[in-house]
Amino acid sequence: MADLVIYFSRSGENYFGGQLKNIEKGNTEVIAEYIQELSGADLFKVEPAVEYPADYMQCIDVAKKEQQDGARPEIKETLDDISSYDTIYIGFPNWWGTLPMAMFTQLEQLDFSGKTVKPFVTHEGSGFGSSARDIKKLCAGADIKKGLSIPGANVGSAKDLVSAWIKE
Ligand SMILES: Cc1cc2nc3c(=O)[nH]c(=O)nc-3n(C[C@H](O)[C@H](O)[C@H](O)COP(=O)(O)O)c2cc1C
Repeated sequence: MADLVIYFSRSGENYFGGQLKNIEKGNTEVIAEYIQELSGADLFKVEPAVEYPADYMQCIDVAKKEQQDGARPEIKETLDDISSYDTIYIGFPNWWGTLPMAMFTQLEQLDFSGKTVKPFVTHEGSGFGSSARDIKKLCAGADIKKGLSIPGANVGSAKDLVSAWIKE
């Protein structure tokens, strides 16, 4: 059975070791593509119907409000069947301590019973934060394996790490 990567990633302005930079590809997407390359997994990118602001500070505010409101922002395309997959990688940036709310919108639509879930996060210092609790709820019934946490600034040199983690 094939593997699948479900991920969220935002391009635009982002922090790298304390500096704002504009990036064309999000950090989490870099990792998702390593997994695709190394394991042949399919990729599914969760994209909000209304894009988050490219401006970092504006995005921070929008994301915080969504989290406080328990929002389930609309997404462009919804994946509704993962029955043909065995292992599901779930990738996201740490946003205010957990997954971006658009990931909640998507993951709540899926039946994870009997699946193996491997979570990965990119971040600016807080690792998985409190996301483990949310992933457990969102992926009820899954066997959740040890996650991989990578600082956003390090994704460019993380392929070996990803490779070792995939094989665990
Ligand atoms: C809205 C928002 C909230 C964030 N909150 C956190 C946080 O609480 N802790 C942390 O370590 N990094 C935080 N970050 C930094 C991102 O997790 C980090 O830059 C990540 O690598 C971005 O991944 P992406 O490029 O795939 O979107 C936040 C970034 C954004 C845009």
